[in-house]
Amino acid sequence: MAQPITIRDVSKTFGSGPSSVQALQRIDLDVGAGEFVAIVGASGCGKSTMLRLVGGLSAPTSGRIEIGGQCVSEPGPGIGIVFQTPVLLPWRNVEQNVQLPLVIQRSGNDPQRIQALLDLVGLRGFERSRPFELSGGMQQRVALCRALVTDPSLLLMDEPFGALDALTREQMNLELQRIWLETGKTVLLITHSITEAVMLADRVVVMTPRPGRIREIIEVDLPRPRDFTALRQTAFHEACDRIRLLMNASGFVE
Ligand SMILES: Nc1ncnc2c1ncn2[C@@H]1O[C@H](COP(=O)(O)OP(=O)(O)O)[C@@H](O)[C@H]1O
Ligand SMILES: [Mg+2]
Repeated sequence: MAQPITIRDVSKTFGSGPSSVQALQRIDLDVGAGEFVAIVGASGCGKSTMLRLVGGLSAPTSGRIEIGGQCVSEPGPGIGIVFQTPVLLPWRNVEQNVQLPLVIQRSGNDPQRIQALLDLVGLRGFERSRPFELSGGMQQRVALCRALVTDPSLLLMDEPFGALDALTREQMNLELQRIWLETGKTVLLITHSITEAVMLADRVVVMTPRPGRIREIIEVDLPRPRDFTALRQTAFHEACDRIRLLMNASGFVE
């Protein structure tokens, strides 16, 4: 069952005294159960910090975050996270890396599911490869499989496709949309790509530069499933233009 996310008046400051950094300032955001929300904003505006807070990997300085009405205090089994860098274990092969969350949760191996996920992201034949034998893009696809292997109801993704070439990235966008449409997960996606955000999200959250605040939330009113022919539609352009304008107004340079 998909879970809603509630973010209430959340601020996050790192360190104390004159060298402290306020990463987030008074964030309020509701993400509906099964909703797909993208977050865009300049580098350093607190996007990764926000994702880590929602994932229970770090605690807010003030405010609170709830998932399905429960206050988040630690990482839970219902949350899959894809980090900016793949962080695979070098001594485990591809299959063993994807299997890791199942081992940690003691939920038993599921070779068929692992194989299906690897097929999905085009990694068939690489089951026994070690991470160092793979390109950055392939490693990131392994990390995506690892995040999906427990079938989490909430998927948090931090610029997951940044290291992929353009074509693979478009394919992964379509796959992610398909997985989301089929499974109804709640998804929070951080991305640098305005096109990717508009292509995938129901709503796009535009953040201000540090300290990160929510500048505006753009609704993307395009039918599903979307494909890259949607790029030609007026509603697509309008959403992209609006987001670009907001980001430029914030001094962001793409
Ligand atoms: N663990 C940390 N300790 C100190 N400062 C941090 C830490 N994590 C992030 N920051 C600072 O918080 C700000 C926001 O970082 P981050 O959330 O990574 O931004 P983004 O993902 O939008 O690029 C940056 O100025 C960064 O240097
Ligand atoms: Mg980041």
